[in-house]
Amino acid sequence: MNFIVAVTKNYAIGRKNQLLFHLPADLKYFKEKTTGKVVIMGDKTYLSLPKRPLPNRTNIVLTLDKDFKAEGAIVVFNLKQLFEKIKEFNEEDVFVCGGASIYNQLAKYCHKAFITKIDKVVEDADTFVTNIEEFPNWKKISSTETQTENGLDFRFEVFENSRVEEFTE
Ligand SMILES: NC(=O)c1ccc[n+]([C@@H]2O[C@H](COP(=O)([O-])OP(=O)(O)OC[C@H]3O[C@@H](n4cnc5c(N)ncnc54)[C@H](OP(=O)(O)O)[C@@H]3O)[C@@H](O)[C@H]2O)c1
Repeated sequence: MNFIVAVTKNYAIGRKNQLLFHLPADLKYFKEKTTGKVVIMGDKTYLSLPKRPLPNRTNIVLTLDKDFKAEGAIVVFNLKQLFEKIKEFNEEDVFVCGGASIYNQLAKYCHKAFITKIDKVVEDADTFVTNIEEFPNWKKISSTETQTENGLDFRFEVFENSRVEEFTE
């Protein structure tokens, strides 16, 4: 299992249930990585999508709301159900796609992290993720050159986890 996220320098990822920036190159990267694969997200991120479910992907939504409706997506109500479900797929084809509550619970079960680093501090964000680089088991294995789009500098980094945890109840 992997996770994929775009973060600012202060690890902000969202505001008012939306992304912080419109970065077409990042959307393209996300699409390339996840098309034909399995995407896992929380109900808030799912509802924030302009088009849902994400096309050409198996969408899995985590929610505590028993009445949550997500036509064309698989809905699960806890991590146990999630891990049962993803056994049906190749683990490297599964991508955790947010938001913060889902990344922060699932990062330790991921082998790889695809992180778009945006060279900006955003103080007025309301959603932040844990910086995995604080943990010695996560090592950067690649980074692109810095690119610029819409006045923002960013690069695509990939990290590998040498101590992936097994899910136990
Ligand atoms: N920059 C990026 O790459 C990126 C990617 C995705 C999303 N985002 C942004 O992140 C923000 C949304 O993040 P968020 O943390 O607020 O919401 P979220 O993670 O998308 O969704 C949280 C929802 O999932 C439920 N949930 C959490 N853990 C669960 C579990 N173990 N079992 C069942 N349900 C569970 C929560 O229920 P409770 O509230 O009851 O705990 C809550 O309703 C938005 O601003 C979005 O745009 C950014």
